[in-house]
Amino acid sequence: MEITLPSPAVGAEIRGVDLCKLDDATFKQIERALGEYGALFFRDQKLAPEDHIAFAERFGEINVNRFFHPVEGHPQIAEVLKEPDQKDNIGGGWHTDHSYDDEPARCSILYAHVIPPSGGDTLYAGLAAAFDALSDGFKDTLRGMRAVHSSRHVFGRKAATRGTDGLDPYSDGRIGNPDAATQDAAHPVVIAHPDTGREILYVNPGFTRHFEGWTIEESKPLLHQLYAHAMKPEFQIRFHWEPGSVAMWDNRSTWHYALNDYHGHRRYLHRITVEGGPLRAAAG
Ligand SMILES: [Fe+2]
Repeated sequence: MEITLPSPAVGAEIRGVDLCKLDDATFKQIERALGEYGALFFRDQKLAPEDHIAFAERFGEINVNRFFHPVEGHPQIAEVLKEPDQKDNIGGGWHTDHSYDDEPARCSILYAHVIPPSGGDTLYAGLAAAFDALSDGFKDTLRGMRAVHSSRHVFGRKAATRGTDGLDPYSDGRIGNPDAATQDAAHPVVIAHPDTGREILYVNPGFTRHFEGWTIEESKPLLHQLYAHAMKPEFQIRFHWEPGSVAMWDNRSTWHYALNDYHGHRRYLHRITVEGGPLRAAAG
């Protein structure tokens, strides 16, 4: 197994492994690398749904997604699909999966079936590196704060009617079940990573609504300042997909952004999300 680090902030490429045949020692290396680097990229894998599920279950219990259309016969696997005639994509904005849950997901594992001839890359941001780059005084202030995250404005009934082209992911069946979008959760703004103990800036543009005890209006300027900081290119890595690629990411320490720059082409992937645990504040 060979690990290379194209970006010092986030992400590692792993070569020389077959995810269908992992001995325990190799699996432990992959698990450690996930905590350390936040996102892992593999090429040329052949994952049948059963293989994908078996690999995911080594990391924990699979979260059966409430909003995404499942792969036929495999409710554990969500379809991430954009057809040539669809305009909006899924995940096209900086976010982390499931931060609106009381115990947010540990990781997500995405396997590529059909990739457009160009475009459709995914960007990742490393929120440990972003936090490390702040001043000591600012870090101290943030360590004492909590923020409220929600799914309502993204997956809920009101969100289901948005979109102007009639082809958004809500109206064409790719995302459903808006009545399940009732989650609100408060988390520390700076968490200690459950595996590594490293301090992580834990707010994201997709699901964070406001700081606990602050209004949405009051929260906006500081949230936007933190987002602008974390979106700096030096904290990012860009992954170019090929059929057979697997990307997995730690939802506690990274954001991701699925680029929507391949109109007229099909993009089809399988996603499994693995449950996490409660998040605790960093001690500083
Ligand atoms: Fe996502």
